Amino acid sequence: KQLRQFSYNPKLSSSNLAFMFDIDGVLLRGEQAIANAKPALELLNHHKIPFILLTNGGGVREADRVEFISSVLDLQISPLQIVQSHTPMKALAHKHAYDRVLVVGGPGDSARTCALEYGFHDVVMPIDLVRANPSISPHHRYTEEDFQKFALEPVESHLDKPIEAILVFNDPRDMTTDIQVVSDLLNSNHGIVGTKRKIENLKHREEPSIPIIFSNNDYLWANDYNLPRFGQGAFRIIVEALYKHTNQLKASEHLHSIVMGKPFKIQYDYAHHVLIDWRTKLVADDTANTEQILPNLGETPTNSPFEKIYMIGDNPESDIKGGNDNGLETALVRTGVFRDEDFNSIVAKPTVGVFDDVYESVTAILEKHK
Ligand code: G3P
Ligand code: MG
Repeated sequence: KQLRQFSYNPKLSSSNLAFMFDIDGVLLRGEQAIANAKPALELLNHHKIPFILLTNGGGVREADRVEFISSVLDLQISPLQIVQSHTPMKALAHKHAYDRVLVVGGPGDSARTCALEYGFHDVVMPIDLVRANPSISPHHRYTEEDFQKFALEPVESHLDKPIEAILVFNDPRDMTTDIQVVSDLLNSNHGIVGTKRKIENLKHREEPSIPIIFSNNDYLWANDYNLPRFGQGAFRIIVEALYKHTNQLKASEHLHSIVMGKPFKIQYDYAHHVLIDWRTKLVADDTANTEQILPNLGETPTNSPFEKIYMIGDNPESDIKGGNDNGLETALVRTGVFRDEDFNSIVAKPTVGVFDDVYESVTAILEKHK
């Protein structure tokens, strides 16, 4: 499809515009670049308009994710230009909220590497518990090679030590095991593996034995299959249903958990801080600098330099609702989850409009500010 030509406009580069891009269904489908994604980002770079990627994806280090995206899009993106679903959890490590955590999801043990880099000192993953005692998950899918490559030695897992919190970094790979291990801990005695609390004398059965933090609530997402796929939100529904049954909760009761990620304010506030930090580096031609001011969780940016921030997404529930609820302008693209026939029933309507792809949305927005 012929790209609409957009000539450089010096007025734009002095603008207080900024963009946040969703990844899956906007820039990438699975591991493939979406057509016209590169020229859309190049247009912003050409005008020195700051942008970041705001994704409910994750499970790997930010540096590794942007390295992959930069190679697929053939366009350099800094590790400071991405907020993944779990990126705000850095603040939990730095606030020493938790030290010994169970981290769930993502490929191999990449999420462990990421959590350790965030500053958590004692990171256990479900595969560690299976290696130490395979009967914990009767139908687990791990091979001896997986244990060698990704799991701690049983003695290193310190299974007698209580686990303080469960952090779900990304979609489970061996969901059977993750459901079992997470459910065990939610119903354990104070986070000790292999124990089970008595529910008879429990006052608040909705409170799990240890807290669980999900990093996004995506029931569906768009990869390169022709239909949307279950995301971490589907995993949460299963965990909640089993918790409800195990604890004999009433119909009106449910597992109390924390959910980060789009569309929630905590995520958009965090991303807004990251965007301000990135703009400062862009204006100072200091984009090779990878030192970032770590935002505090739950802190809304004050005196933002931006007149308008545009959120471009494919999922009305996470991208459009989240953008609209948090003061951003929003554009919805047809290259991911959203289908035109659903327009009248989507949970939130884009303030700018619906576009065939990300390039169409960016040029239409820049036209408005010429
Ligand atoms: O796990 C990825 C999925 O939840 C959605 O990612 O980039 O569309 O927010 P994204
Ligand atoms: Mg998406």
